Formats: sequence, structure tokens, C-alpha cells
Amino acid sequence: MKRTQAKNPLPGSPSQSCLLQDHILEVEDLCVSYERQKSRLFEKEESMQVLHDVSFFIRKGEVLGLVGESGCGKSTLSRAILGLQPRYEGAIRCAAARPQMVFQDPYSSLNPAKRVGWILEEPLKLNTALSAKERRQRALAMLERVGLEEKIVDRFPRQLSGGQRQRVCIAESLMLEPSLLIADEPVSALDVTIQAQILELLSRLQKEMGLAILFISHDMRVVYQLSQRVMVMKEGRIVESGDVDEVYFHPRHPYTKELLEAAGIEGEEERPETDAGADGAAAGKGTDERRRADA
Ligand SMILES: Nc1ncnc2c1ncn2[C@@H]1O[C@H](COP(=O)(O)OP(=O)(O)O)[C@@H](O)[C@H]1O
Ligand SMILES: [Mg+2]
Repeated sequence: MKRTQAKNPLPGSPSQSCLLQDHILEVEDLCVSYERQKSRLFEKEESMQVLHDVSFFIRKGEVLGLVGESGCGKSTLSRAILGLQPRYEGAIRCAAARPQMVFQDPYSSLNPAKRVGWILEEPLKLNTALSAKERRQRALAMLERVGLEEKIVDRFPRQLSGGQRQRVCIAESLMLEPSLLIADEPVSALDVTIQAQILELLSRLQKEMGLAILFISHDMRVVYQLSQRVMVMKEGRIVESGDVDEVYFHPRHPYTKELLEAAGIEGEEERPETDAGADGAAAGKGTDERRRADA
């Protein structure tokens, strides 16, 4: 298949070689270690390897889920992809000009001193030649797109609910129309009903904008709702990956079975259905199921 030049050889990237044409991201044999602080003067410096030969790809416009227990290395992987992990071995090839990030904590990821309008316009100020009026128009259009009222534009983050803040974070991440979004536990800090709304929003935006998303969560049900394919990570290794229904309903690795069982999904003959019907991979798939599970 035809290969295209990576648009964005990330900082520290050892590789500038080519990606397959329909891929937005390729990660090959990625290894990351952290240096452990020396506790005594003459102690040997130790390093702890967190990611072990992680390899995968994401297609353009596709949601790839990454699931695994807390501490297994998910955030380390997302930081490496964003170029925030200066030292690694292996290759990260990215065709997205500006991959964007949505974080877990909508409370600390928004500048508390700035109004929503300023927050949304900042990426445009830094990266485009748009006028102040055009920037404001784009900010208002994006607010509408993420389901927020125009008046929110003059609010400070502290004046918003958790769900509204996460909508603002999502809006901010989309201002530059990225083709790849890294969503690292984007709903983990939210109540269950708000979680479902944010997942529905992400699913809708993903379809409308043709976004590729690396969707990271420790929650098997949440990952199922949004992802077309999924990878299961254990102690820094991908132990199983494949189409989401295949992995969830015909798991091969004992660890996948363990996670499914812990989430109460094991033994379900049919995949969780919802009112959203058979339309695509998400749109609230499993939402009712989830509400029941948490009731
Ligand atoms: N900056 C760091 N320095 C040293 N160790 C770290 C650092 N960041 C994460 N770790 C360790 O790396 C492992 C993986 O962490 P992380 O990638 O945050 O996992 P996850 O996102 O899956 O919870 C954990 O053992 C964590 O303690
Ligand atoms: Mg994490």
C-alpha cells in the first residue's frame, strides 16, 4: 500500500519514515522507562521500564480504545504520542498536524483566571491569522457544537458544572480542527449520567468531524461504547487487540477475560443494545445497560 510522509515528526522522534496511507498514527516497538530517583548518594541509578514494545496503528477517522488497570502505562503512552515524553525507544509516526488532548480532570485543565471565550480563542490566536471578530464567531460556533449556550462564553471555569467544563475542554481541543484526538480518561471524573452525555457528544463529534480518537479508559464499559477497535494493556504490554465485539465477546487472553468479568460483562451472549440502534459503533451504545448496572 502507498505510504505518505509523516507531517509531524514529533519532538524526540527517532523516525521520520512513512505511514500507510489510511493511517493517522503508527507506533512501533515503543519502550519507555523512568529513571528512579537515587535515594542514597552512591546508590546505582535504576530505571523502571513502563512500556514494553508497544506497537499499533490508528486509521483515519477511527476510534481505537485503550483499556487497562490504573498504573499500567496508558498515560505514559498518550504523553509519548503527544511528544511530551522526551525519551523513548521505538518509532512514533503521526500524520496529524496537531494531535490534541482531552484530559481526565476538567477542573485543573482549564485556566481558572480566563473566561471560556478567551480559552477557546487562544489556540486560534497562537496558530491562525483570524481577526478578533472571526475568532469570537468560531468560539461561539464551537460552543453550540458541543451543546453549550452562547452565554457560557463570558463565564469563568469555576462558574461551570463538571460536565460543562468537560464540554469546554472538548471544544478547546477541537478549535484547530485536529484529525487526531487523544482522550485520556475523559469521563472518569464525572458522574455516570454526565459520563453518558459526554460519551454521546464525543461519538457525535467524531462522526461529524471524521476524527480519529485514541480513547483511553480503565473502564471496560466506557471503552466499549465509543471504540471500533480496542487494545488491552497489562503492565505496559498490549496483551490483546482487535475489533471491539471480537475482543469483548470472544476474548482470548486471560487478562481480558479477567477485566470483562470484573466489569460484569463476562457471559453476556449479546452485545449491549440501546435505543441508538444499529447505527455505527457508538451513539450511547451500552448506555442504558450502564445506567442499570450503576442503579
Ligand atoms: N513521571 C514519572 N516518573 C516516574 N514514574 C512514573 C512517572 N509517570 C508515571 N510513572 C509510573 O509509570 C507507571 C505507569 O503510569 P501511567 O502511565 O500514569 O499509568 P496509567 O495512566 O495507566 O494509570 C506507574 O507505575 C507510574 O507510577
Ligand atoms: Mg492515566
